[in-house]
Amino acid sequence: HPALHEDARRGLKLEGVALAEIAAQVGTPCWVIGAQTLRQRARALKAAFGDAGLKPSFHFAVKAQDHQATLTLLRQEGFGGDVVSGGELQRCLRAGMDPQALVYSGVGKTDDELRLALREGIGQINVESPEELARLNALALELGLRAPVALRVNPDVDAGTHDKITTGRAEDKFGIAAPEIIALYRQACETMPGIEMRGLAVHLGSQILTEAPYRQGYQRLAELVTQLRTEGLAVHTLDCGGGLGIAYRDEQAPEPARLARVIADILGPLEVELKIEPGRWLVGPAGVLVSRVIGTRAASEAAQALGSPDFVILDAGMNDLLRPALYEAWHGLLPVAPARGAESDWQEVDVVGPICESSDVFARNRRLPPLEQGDLVALLDAGAYGSVMSSTYNTRPFCAQVMVDGDQWRVIRPRQTLEELLAVESVPEWLAEQA
Ligand code: LLP
Repeated sequence: HPALHEDARRGLKLEGVALAEIAAQVGTPCWVIGAQTLRQRARALKAAFGDAGLKPSFHFAVKAQDHQATLTLLRQEGFGGDVVSGGELQRCLRAGMDPQALVYSGVGKTDDELRLALREGIGQINVESPEELARLNALALELGLRAPVALRVNPDVDAGTHDKITTGRAEDKFGIAAPEIIALYRQACETMPGIEMRGLAVHLGSQILTEAPYRQGYQRLAELVTQLRTEGLAVHTLDCGGGLGIAYRDEQAPEPARLARVIADILGPLEVELKIEPGRWLVGPAGVLVSRVIGTRAASEAAQALGSPDFVILDAGMNDLLRPALYEAWHGLLPVAPARGAESDWQEVDVVGPICESSDVFARNRRLPPLEQGDLVALLDAGAYGSVMSSTYNTRPFCAQVMVDGDQWRVIRPRQTLEELLAVESVPEWLAEQA
């Protein structure tokens, strides 16, 4: 595993730090992310594209993990950001990113968000519909500015990933259908002085595990570029999106080098500036969620008759790590303690959270060493779309977050207190009881 090591004495470590040490000081549940792992992955990604003879600009998909420590580290590695809200835009600026290194995507950008992006001098806005293009043109003219724009193409490609995270099919809400691109591009260049048309963008979906959808999507993009140029319209930049999958279990995820080669083959000859928007691949394997076993519960006789195993109940829930409940996503799960016992003692269990919902299940029928009350476990590959998708459902305050960097570690976000959670609520005065 890229971030985790087994220490015979101190148990599971993330980089050089024992997770048990962090849990003892910070409590559980607790997110832990490894800075060295992030750096290694950032460098490996850049090297893969360099080896393929490409020099794209890299824009981290901030939605995957938006903590400012992560953004600062990735900025130091030469990354800009791919943002989808005014909030993410401000985060990137506060983390010291150059506004020119930011790309703004998303189907629903408000007028205020677009104004903010324009005033800050954002590098590129990926426009998702003709309506949005007209609105952006008007806003830019109002401000006396020009909006640097790429049109997001809907390539009508099925990325073959989970239904809830695929974005490039005709029926999905994202992007502009390829046949409509040429006319709109021309219209912008000829009739919209607030728009500086820079190029095209595409994003097919997330956790993509094969090359084929990328090939199809980029081929469609290349055809459009050729067509635009034939019609005398200039194309300077192509945004290749993100989506590169990782191995949560035993999936064969393509290496970044394969993606780089596909891009070099298909888009390289067009001589455009390339942009890449990786999220999950960079940060996913760098993070874990550490949790403690609250207790166990034997399956009832009736449940056993149906083949159901015993339950292990964790202090982390679907409000913390939503992916298993929302996408039936598989996350690795390891006990933190060094002693795993003999294989023959391992048992199939359902690992669940404390939330009052049947979907609050982290793992079904998972073969694990015996776990008891108080034992620590780590949910693996939780660095992407983990902490960012948390809620306080069931009045469970947001977890603490820790960054490890080799042998050192810091709390980068303290556990939210119940006081903090409740302090922002108020009761209307008409409900107040008379003294
Ligand atoms: N660019 C755009 C325009 C995107 O919409 C996304 C992700 C990315 C880049 C980054 O994709 P990545 O490299 O991370 O696959 N919450 C889901 C994933 C949602 C992805 C949304 N868009 C999950 O937990 O699996």
